[in-house]
Amino acid sequence: LEIIDLKKTYFGKAALFGKPKTVEAVKGVNFTVFEGETLGLVGESGCGKSTLGKTIMQIEEATAGQIKFRGRDITRLNKAERKQLRKEIQIVFQDPFASLNPRITIGEAIAEPLAVHHSYSAGKRKQEVLELLEAVGLDSTFYNRYPHQLSGGQRQRIGIARAIALKPKLLICDESVSALDISVQAQVLNLLNTLKEEYGFTYIFISHDLAVVKYMADQLVVMNSGLIEEIGDADEIYANPRKDYTKRLIEAIPKGIKKA
Ligand SMILES: Nc1ncnc2c1ncn2[C@@H]1O[C@H](COP(=O)(O)OP(=O)(O)O)[C@@H](O)[C@H]1O
Ligand SMILES: [Mg+2]
Repeated sequence: LEIIDLKKTYFGKAALFGKPKTVEAVKGVNFTVFEGETLGLVGESGCGKSTLGKTIMQIEEATAGQIKFRGRDITRLNKAERKQLRKEIQIVFQDPFASLNPRITIGEAIAEPLAVHHSYSAGKRKQEVLELLEAVGLDSTFYNRYPHQLSGGQRQRIGIARAIALKPKLLICDESVSALDISVQAQVLNLLNTLKEEYGFTYIFISHDLAVVKYMADQLVVMNSGLIEEIGDADEIYANPRKDYTKRLIEAIPKGIKKA
C-alpha cells in the first residue's frame, strides 16, 4: 500500500449566517506498507488516524493525493470496483457491537459478508462460519447466540471473524482493543498476530495508545494534527524518539507496561 500526499478535508454545512466549517483532518501524508508488514499508526485523539483509515478503506473520499494498493490507485473507483475492493481491504472498529444487529445470531452476522460476496450454498456457508469461529478462538456453540450474550472480548472476536471472512489482504484495526480490559487486550492482540501468521495479512494498526501499537508494529507512523510527526522502525522510535510529541506519547504509557 502506497499513500502519496493524501489529504482529507471535511466540508461542513454552513450555519445560517456563518461560514461553512471545514476540518483539514489529513493534511498531506506519505508512507508505504509492504506485504506482510504491520504499520502502527499512533497519535493523540483527533489527529486524523480514523480519517486516514476510513479514506484508505474508501468509506471516506480522499480530497487530494493517491492511495495505491497493489500498484493501482483506488481513490476513484466506481461502485462495482469498490465492492471488489471490500474483499481485499477490511476494517475492525473499536466496538463491533455497534454494528451487530441485536436480533440476528452470531452465525448469521458472520455469514453476512459471505452472502454478499460469494454464491455459496447454505451448507458451505455454515461450514465456513464454523471455521471462522474456530479461527478466532470461539467454539460452535456461539453460532446460535445473540450479541448481548457475549463479553466485550468475545464481541471483538466476532468483529475480527467478520473482517477476515473474505480473506482480505489488508486489515485496518482502528482502536480494536481500546475498549477492552488490559488482560483481554493482550488476548485479542495475540489472536491478531496468530491470524497474521496463518493468513499472511498485512495490518495497519491504529491506536492512541503507543504501548499497544508498539507491541504490534514493525514500522511506526506518529501522527500529529493531520501530519506525520515521525516515521520509522517502531523499536527504534520507541527507544530513541526524536520529537517531543513522541516523547509525550511514551510518557503517557503507565509505568508497569512501559518495560514490557
Ligand atoms: N465526519 C466528520 N465530519 C467533520 N469532521 C470530522 C469528521 N470525522 C472526523 N472529523 C474531525 O477530523 C479530525 C480528525 O478526526 P479523527 O480522524 O477521528 O481522529 P482520531 O481518529 O485520530 O481521533 C477531528 O478534528 C474530528 O473532529
Ligand atoms: Mg479514531
